[in-house]
Amino acid sequence: GVNSKSSAIQNYCLVDLSEQIKAATKDSHVRAENTQLMLNYQKGQITQTQYKLLLCSLYEIYRALEAELDRNADHPAVQPIYFPQELARLETLELDLEHFFGPHWRKRITVPAATHKYTQRLREIGKNSPNLLVAHAYTRYLGDLSGGQVLGKITQKSLGLSGNKGVFFFSFPGVTSPNRFKQLYRSRMNSIELTEQQRREVLDEATRAFEFNIEVFDDLQKMLSITEEASSEFHEIQSKTFSSSPVLQFALGVGITLATVGIGVYAF
Ligand code: HEM
Repeated sequence: GVNSKSSAIQNYCLVDLSEQIKAATKDSHVRAENTQLMLNYQKGQITQTQYKLLLCSLYEIYRALEAELDRNADHPAVQPIYFPQELARLETLELDLEHFFGPHWRKRITVPAATHKYTQRLREIGKNSPNLLVAHAYTRYLGDLSGGQVLGKITQKSLGLSGNKGVFFFSFPGVTSPNRFKQLYRSRMNSIELTEQQRREVLDEATRAFEFNIEVFDDLQKMLSITEEASSEFHEIQSKTFSSSPVLQFALGVGITLATVGIGVYAF
């Protein structure tokens, strides 16, 4: 009857999840690669300040992601892609942070608002929609196993680091061949049973996962330009900080005018 026909359509898998997720996030990947932070990175223009700030955000992101994966390790949509031995990044990030910030690194963690938003989303879906965790695990771990490998070498070279010190985050001793592991990971993703509706939600969440990363990179870039400008003259900071907002620029102009008039009147 009609019901068996529609359920047959629903259960028939035209395309693998791994193919769909790659296609769905293709444009987002291009945008992530083209954020100022990633462009600087690819040119080998990463400073220690930039890298330390990036590590802080990655630490908060993986702390949330891995806590939620651990909590849902037995969930049917997590269990197939749960590879803590091979993939877990939290301890590597702790080692890298300790290398740069010393034993009291925990007190030195600073992250922008975008990182908080990202980790809140991770904790929320870990509690309420564990089906969606695969989208986030895919975005981070397969990225780390792909472009991340190049970024690791660039970091090592740019910061003049010897061995793995400070760049443990990029190394996966439990993964002999990143390409073969990515294939295994994709086949595990494809074994997760999802309804069409759930699958669409996973694909949407994957583009959102990229979006969160892009926002983190943009926020980090802003934090860095503020840090770098802090040593400049006040008027330079003023012009750069307010250049994006005509309203603020106007308000500031009015404020300065009033203050000048005020000082003028007072002086008389
Ligand atoms: C400088 C920045 C980046 C470069 C140069 C880069 C480069 C690459 C390369 C070469 C691949 C392999 C493509 C393939 O095997 O077909 C890849 C895959 C991937 N990248 Fe990136 N990437 C960058 C940034 C990012 C970021 C910021 C994310 C997400 C946070 C990300 C997530 C991914 C994912 C999930 C894959 C796996 C795609 C798949 O096979 O399904 N990448 N990247």
